[in-house]
Amino acid sequence: MRIILGIGGGIAAYKAAMLLRLFSEAGHDVVPMPTDSALRFVGAPTFEALSGHPVRVSVFEDVETVNHVRQGEQADLIVVAPATADLLARLAAGRADDLLTGTVLTATCPVVIAPAMHTQMWENPATRRNVEILRGYGYTVVEPAVGRLTGRDSGAGRLPEPAEIRDAALAAHAGTRPRATARTEVRPQTAGHAGPRADDERAGDRTPGGPRREGPLGGRRVVVTAGGTREPLDPVRFLGNRSSGKQGIAVARAALDAGAEVTLLLAHTEVPAPAEEAGLTIRSVGTALELREAVFAALAEQPADALVMTAAVADFRPGAYRESKIKKDPEATDAPVIELVRNPDILREVVQRRGEGGPAPALIVGFAAETGSEEASVAELGRAKLCSKGSDVLVVNQVGTDLVFGSDRTAATILVRRGSETEETDVAGGKDDLARRLVELMASHPDMRRR
Ligand SMILES: Cc1cc2nc3c(=O)[nH]c(=O)nc-3n(C[C@H](O)[C@H](O)[C@H](O)COP(=O)(O)O)c2cc1C
Repeated sequence: MRIILGIGGGIAAYKAAMLLRLFSEAGHDVVPMPTDSALRFVGAPTFEALSGHPVRVSVFEDVETVNHVRQGEQADLIVVAPATADLLARLAAGRADDLLTGTVLTATCPVVIAPAMHTQMWENPATRRNVEILRGYGYTVVEPAVGRLTGRDSGAGRLPEPAEIRDAALAAHAGTRPRATARTEVRPQTAGHAGPRADDERAGDRTPGGPRREGPLGGRRVVVTAGGTREPLDPVRFLGNRSSGKQGIAVARAALDAGAEVTLLLAHTEVPAPAEEAGLTIRSVGTALELREAVFAALAEQPADALVMTAAVADFRPGAYRESKIKKDPEATDAPVIELVRNPDILREVVQRRGEGGPAPALIVGFAAETGSEEASVAELGRAKLCSKGSDVLVVNQVGTDLVFGSDRTAATILVRRGSETEETDVAGGKDDLARRLVELMASHPDMRRR
């Protein structure tokens, strides 16, 4: 397919050359489209030699071909990596002052944007707002990684590794990123994680389209993840898990009943998604990387009081996505070997960002599914996990073929960190019971009460 590779003028522009190479090696025709500033970081000959295409920057080159319209029409996929803060602003505003922005405006294909910049620029309300606007256009915005930045500093804003961007881009093109979002409204006026607007909302109406709701979590915002992620292998196959989504949906329900405003990030579920109602916003995701992106977007766009990570997130994904179905060779007896790569640990990253002062909820709740073993019981594994993940609460389920997954019933231990102590509560019964108990614990938790 024909991929337009937009390149912004940031220090990570050199990684675009590697991304170009990855796409070319997979058989794609890549048209590099750097901005003027990008060419101050990496020269045109690098992109021309790697792609076999001349580099054009302005709409006033190759005018006889009306290049920005032609490029937009011919593109199957547009990937912008790295996208600078400036480029995000120009794209969000619908500007067309160079070939890249003009091409994005004329194209109808999927657009994937991978921003990279210093943490302060990334967390600035103007950038957050631009990202939300771009997501509102249906573009995929890949969350930047946390790590070393230009100089000796580090934080959120690093361009993800080229292979990760490639996978996100190909998944977006293959349509594995569900766009069906119950309410992914663009609300620029509420974007940002700080400032007077956020405080006003905490004090008064926070539920979109409705008054402040009553209950122990009245005036609180809770982000809940639910379901199981699916990691595509090829257009027909994926690696999935047995999560039904029942527990996460029950938590969302219990939080709504307790008066919270709930954002439910829904991966694959075996049960229908809840119907729309006041106080509930649902966003659909497919893969672990998409869930990560949705979690950080939900935490950045409005302050959240609690995050409950109920979703079963794949620890690994196939290292490469095949664009056509993997065929069996009738002559051969062997089977293909699938190489897996690790997915990011979303829960741990949220905890880490909170430690660094980034936008994060007061209360972070993780869920862990353990089978137990001869060496360690489920409770012991849970305690060790609470320590290693650093969340405030961990709900540990014992899972097995007929246990918990898909069932309406559950048996779990809720581990709550209280200073250096851990409080343990065993709950056995319906998933609704566990959800209500968890919400009670959240409402009475000192970190929630302090907010
Ligand atoms: C050394 C250096 C590194 C920069 N790195 C970034 C960056 O990583 N991200 C960013 O948004 N801007 C960065 N900038 C600022 C952009 O180059 C500047 O905003 C420019 O106008 C972007 O143009 P463009 O969006 O048309 O590519 C950097 C500037 C310099 C001088």
